Amino acid sequence: MIKVVGVVGAGTMGNGIAQVFAQAGFSVRLLDVAQPMLDRARAAIDKSLAKFVEKGQLSPADRDAAIGRLSTTTTLDDLVDADYIVEAIVEDVDAKRALFTSLDAIARREVVLASNTSSISITTLGAATRRPAQVLGMHFMNPVPVMTLVELIRGQSTSAESMQVASELCARLRKTAVEAADYPGFIANRILMPMINEAVYALMEGVGTPEAIDTVMKLGLNHPMGPLALADFIGLDVCLAILNVLHEGLGDPKYRPCPLLRRLVAAGHLGRKSGRGFYMY
Ligand SMILES: NC(=O)c1ccc[n+]([C@@H]2O[C@H](COP(=O)([O-])OP(=O)(O)OC[C@H]3O[C@@H](n4cnc5c(N)ncnc54)[C@H](O)[C@@H]3O)[C@@H](O)[C@H]2O)c1
Repeated sequence: MIKVVGVVGAGTMGNGIAQVFAQAGFSVRLLDVAQPMLDRARAAIDKSLAKFVEKGQLSPADRDAAIGRLSTTTTLDDLVDADYIVEAIVEDVDAKRALFTSLDAIARREVVLASNTSSISITTLGAATRRPAQVLGMHFMNPVPVMTLVELIRGQSTSAESMQVASELCARLRKTAVEAADYPGFIANRILMPMINEAVYALMEGVGTPEAIDTVMKLGLNHPMGPLALADFIGLDVCLAILNVLHEGLGDPKYRPCPLLRRLVAAGHLGRKSGRGFYMY
């Protein structure tokens, strides 16, 4: 029976993942490398919960209970009693592999280690552990408390039992789980990222302003958000990392990251989280 959930990485995704597990009644230990990240995560969670209370979708008592179930830490050993662990650190294969090796060393033998990676091979992460059968992808969508989809990714060695554990957890979180095979970008980003990349090429080539490109996709194709606003929301560094994985993993030039995207990331213009991307925030 899963009671304690560890979440590693307290950024855009990690704080949302910690929040939904806490709201669903799990004790959550949220870990990041330093206290300022954890303080920011707590502030983001408080703000999100306040919105649910404002809309009448959550009682103040349930909000307080959820906050009470959440603790934060910078020490990996504090995850030793976790029954399930979700990793949501930077989209970098070496950083993730190193973390999976460390998690494998501290977590009980039967604990499933899930990655929220957008594109990196689950099989590669599993191979960094002695428990590849208990390593899988659990890809939440942004913002986690609002979006109902979770892509579940089965690595080459992931067991059916582990997939079942993750699928039951999704049901407890009231999320819809869809299974995807372990190929770069899985389903969501394999389809989404070429569109975002093409929008950046269109901007670079002067086909339209950011507003024009986003308005065409919103009003002309009924997308709730334009691709450039969505890229800012996801994080331009995250988009670039995913495109690099798609480009390298699939070998098709259509996934080549747009030079303008590279330039913005090099300048530290990462989208909403840095106050500047295709738009100012
Ligand atoms: N941003 C999105 O829309 C989105 C959507 C779905 C999945 N993802 C995936 O989720 C993961 C996290 O993305 P994000 O947007 O939250 O990134 P982010 O940059 O907002 O946050 C990453 C956090 O991880 C922390 N971190 C880095 N190395 C660490 C380590 N070794 N141990 C503990 N913490 C560490 C960082 O300090 C940072 O707080 C990535 O794999 C990304 O591809 C992102």
